[in-house]
Amino acid sequence: MTPTYAKRPLQLNDLGQLRHFLSLDGLSKELLTEILDTADSFLEVGNRSVKKVPLLRGKTVCNVFFENSTRTRTTFELAAKRLSADVITLNVSTSSTSKGETLTDTLRNLEAMAADMFVVRHADSGAAHFIAEHVSPDVAVINGGDGRHAHPTQGMLDMLTIRRHKGDFEPLSVAIVGDILHSRVARSNMLALRTLGCRDVRVIGPKTLLPVGLEQYGVRVFTDMAEGLEDVDVVIMLRLQRERMQGGLLPSEGEFYRLYGLTTQRLALARPDAIVMHPGPINRGVEIESAVADGAQSVILNQVTYGIAIRMAVLSMAMSGQTAQRQLLAEEQK
Ligand code: CP
Repeated sequence: MTPTYAKRPLQLNDLGQLRHFLSLDGLSKELLTEILDTADSFLEVGNRSVKKVPLLRGKTVCNVFFENSTRTRTTFELAAKRLSADVITLNVSTSSTSKGETLTDTLRNLEAMAADMFVVRHADSGAAHFIAEHVSPDVAVINGGDGRHAHPTQGMLDMLTIRRHKGDFEPLSVAIVGDILHSRVARSNMLALRTLGCRDVRVIGPKTLLPVGLEQYGVRVFTDMAEGLEDVDVVIMLRLQRERMQGGLLPSEGEFYRLYGLTTQRLALARPDAIVMHPGPINRGVEIESAVADGAQSVILNQVTYGIAIRMAVLSMAMSGQTAQRQLLAEEQK
């Protein structure tokens, strides 16, 4: 039987199934767990000699990235190809947006090519929601990161990494460290960890890089690394997001590293079996020491591999939710 979830506007269909994937806000523990379980089942596809399943055969997925990306763009492309979809990746810097075409007009043209899904990254918070509200109801929109708002597939691949390396979320202590203020990854991770039942989520950073209102996420806030890292099971490091910073929020990168850089010495404050994560791109010697990034406790490259399976899960679930919604509407119109 298909599981059903509470109805939510926009990103869920009338059965409560995923039809867009825009944010983790408001999604249930059951739905997040279904995404993780589905991704787990896709991991073995990456170990086959023929790395393909036919779930999206005949469907067209458009990657439309208005902001730079290495990991998210390529792993979405791989995920869609492993699901047997046709994939178009629009290079926005060489597209007609540079000739003044609006976002909506660009997307309308891709719709006219019968695209079934858009994977969108944009520098503006809320861009993915805006697009989902304005595209044809037959098109699924997946958020590949919007401004400082949300990066839901990164959040879910981080949860898959934690579950595969640490098991159940409930007893874990997880620290998210660095530039929380500008980080869409921090927001998605805080929401996911709390929804999945993690009892101790900590954020650590200088006051100038901590947003107001963090208490609404149910996290503990630290400005001192030694206090915040004590006995944690998972350390998630974030880079300084200079592209979203306005004004002098930091004295210097050297000062940031001195106070908040994850060095071998600082990592020793966490549990001996703690794992080190980072969404990438990493800045060695700014937020993380090379010996830690490349060390035995680092699972940073595993995160990238798990990202393909999570993106396969999200693409296939959203496509199936869209199809179910279309069938519901067709039955209503009979
Ligand atoms: N983690 C992440 O979003 O990396 P990219 O910017 O390379 O996609």
